Order: sequence, then structure tokens, then C-alpha cells
Amino acid sequence: MIHSARFLVSNSAVDHCPKSSFPEYAFIGRSNVGKSSLINAMANNKKLAKTSGTPGKTKLINHFLINDAWCMVDLPGYGYAKISKKERNELKKLINGYFAKRKQLVNTFILIDSRHKPQDIDIDFINTMGAQKHPFSIVFTKIDKLSHGQRQNNISVYKSQLLERGWECIPPLFESSAKTGEGKKEILSYIESINSNL
Ligand code: GTP
Ligand code: MG
Repeated sequence: MIHSARFLVSNSAVDHCPKSSFPEYAFIGRSNVGKSSLINAMANNKKLAKTSGTPGKTKLINHFLINDAWCMVDLPGYGYAKISKKERNELKKLINGYFAKRKQLVNTFILIDSRHKPQDIDIDFINTMGAQKHPFSIVFTKIDKLSHGQRQNNISVYKSQLLERGWECIPPLFESSAKTGEGKKEILSYIESINSNL
């Protein structure tokens, strides 16, 4: 259970992130996929991370300390077209720097909008995480927007796409809704099971 969640710090460079050794869990995915909303839903605090209907809200690396024991990290989204090339390159550098250098990172949740067909930008990100041997899980977000049938169909299409792209096994998958709270419990248990084995 999450009994305390507090904002620690926002940074524009990985080298300035907290020096503490709390294990951390990153949330990444396309802009507007619902990273900040999922963090808030998990923490039961709508005001913890800044959310917005307009893509490109989160532009920094944001650390939140949970239960005084571990961190959730809200990262900027990738793939947002409506920013300058310079800004896009800076965000890319920020995200790449985080994954290259952050030793406290134990697992990354890659968020995928459950409504859409597999997108190259997400599959490429998943493949890069695999190539760099970063442990990750996939979270299908906004599941409240789909019917039961659509949801089964979209997730099985995604699984087949991963297998077709050469993944021999499927990483842990979660289905979530920041609106209904679905998936929170499962994601949290997964985090707690990792923490208890560290
Ligand atoms: P950036 O920081 O811009 O990269 O976006 P983000 O991935 O952090 O998305 P954010 O949490 O700001 O949510 C984007 C929009 O989607 C907001 O309008 C949210 O209310 C909405 N949203 C997020 N999660 C859900 C969900 O599970 N269900 C529904 N229906 N809407 C959601
Ligand atoms: Mg955000």
C-alpha cells in the first residue's frame, strides 16, 4: 500500500537527480499516454504530478518518494511532434541520459495507449530498452475507454507484434486506468515484490 507520497525534485539533467539510493521505477511512453496520471492514481493524489490534456506537459525528470522507501519517476514523453527540433533533441538527450546513467533505476514501466495499433515509435523504444538490457514492463493505459472485446483484441495484437519483432518472451503486461483505478493494485504488488527481493 502507498501510505505516503511526496514530490522530491525536478531536474533537467540526470547528474542532478537525487544522490540517495532509493530504488526507483520510471514511467515513460508517448506524450499524453497518461504517465503523470498513472503516478497520481497510484499515489491517490491527483495533484502530485502535473497532468494535462495537451501533450508535452512533463519536460523534466520528476522524482516522487513513496513510503519513504522507493521512488516513482515521471519522465517527459517521447514522440511529440509539435515542439521545435532543438527542444525535441534536448528531451531525447535528457531521457537517454537518464537511462544510461541512473544506477538507482530498477524497473521501467513503458506506457502504451491501449486504444491504438502498435506504433513504430513505441516498438523502437521497447527494442532499445531490450538491447540495453534495462528491465521493463508494459502498461496499457486508458483501458476505461475500451470495450471488453476491443481490449482483448488490442492487447493480443500487441503481443503478436512483439513476437513478430523477435521478442522470445513477453515482458510483464498490465492494463490500467487512471480514471477507474484499475491496474493500480497489480502494478504496486509488482513493485513491492521487486523491492522485497532487492
Ligand atoms: P506528457 O507529460 O505530456 O508526456 O503526458 P502524460 O503521459 O504525463 O499524460 P497525462 O497524465 O498528463 O494525461 C494526458 C491526458 O490523458 C489527460 O487529459 C488525462 O486526464 C488523460 N488520461 C490519462 N490517463 C487516463 C486514463 O487512464 N483514462 C482516461 N480516460 N484518461 C486518461
Ligand atoms: Mg506527464
